[in-house]
Amino acid sequence: MAIDYGFKDQVALVVGGGDGSGSIFSTLFAQEGGKVVVADVREEAAQEVAERIKAAGGEATAVKLNVLDETDMINAVKLCEEKYGGLHYGINIVGTSLDFCDLTQVPSENFDKMFHICVQSTFFGLKHQIPAILRTGQGGAVINMGSNGSLVAHKDIGLYDACKHAVLGMSKSAALDFASRGVRVNVICPGVMLSRGLKQALEKDPHFADKWIQDIPSGKLQTYEEVAHTFMFLCSKHAASITGVALPVDGGQVAD
Ligand SMILES: NC(=O)c1ccc[n+]([C@@H]2O[C@H](COP(=O)([O-])OP(=O)(O)OC[C@H]3O[C@@H](n4cnc5c(N)ncnc54)[C@H](O)[C@@H]3O)[C@@H](O)[C@H]2O)c1
Repeated sequence: MAIDYGFKDQVALVVGGGDGSGSIFSTLFAQEGGKVVVADVREEAAQEVAERIKAAGGEATAVKLNVLDETDMINAVKLCEEKYGGLHYGINIVGTSLDFCDLTQVPSENFDKMFHICVQSTFFGLKHQIPAILRTGQGGAVINMGSNGSLVAHKDIGLYDACKHAVLGMSKSAALDFASRGVRVNVICPGVMLSRGLKQALEKDPHFADKWIQDIPSGKLQTYEEVAHTFMFLCSKHAASITGVALPVDGGQVAD
């Protein structure tokens, strides 16, 4: 029997929805009868996802949004309210890692860059999506993209781990602030995702990911579909009692 997520006519804003797990979540959410605003700094990528959803009979709108710009977040939320009558779910996916070396080698200007793209973006999401969910008045959820670097540290990726710990701390605090008002806030913590870039590297060298896979108890990388389905579950009515959690989607890596 198919799962009834309860998404019919509900509205999701997917920040970073132009590719990866966000584009798959957008598609799945629309297939369940939800209305989705696909937001991305690459407007054409967001447009492509929205067009694909509409061609399949779903409801979607694309918007250009740079997570570094608070006004873009405000406008995207406004679009959800003006076009679709409100907001139920905010999905904040954008993040990056700039340096793969110990902290003493990291260029100091990357501190601000990393915190802006990973942490400030999450702050803008929470700050503007939660009030819109409250105004809509039907409850909802914000899901932020963490990493297993939200939970444990790794060598040679100190700023990234600091940012992802911050994403988790801020999300847990927001979960406490808004639990009694029907807004849940959770963090998904993938291990190593089979991204477009990684797929290309594996086409050239099938052993490229061996060094990571050997640390994953399940022996495999995480797919975007697996991560997107976790977003689906955490948004859904079936997760009504789940807030303030960091959910690893990492094949057992942080259990080790
Ligand atoms: N790749 C991994 O193995 C891995 C593991 C754990 C966590 N993560 C986290 O997952 C997230 C990435 O998820 P994904 O691979 O599904 O997405 P992705 O990296 O494919 O990016 C999704 C979209 O974000 C957009 N984007 C990039 N910069 C932006 C900006 N400044 N403003 C708005 N949009 C922007 C891109 O254009 C892209 O379409 C990051 O937060 C990353 O830290 C990744």
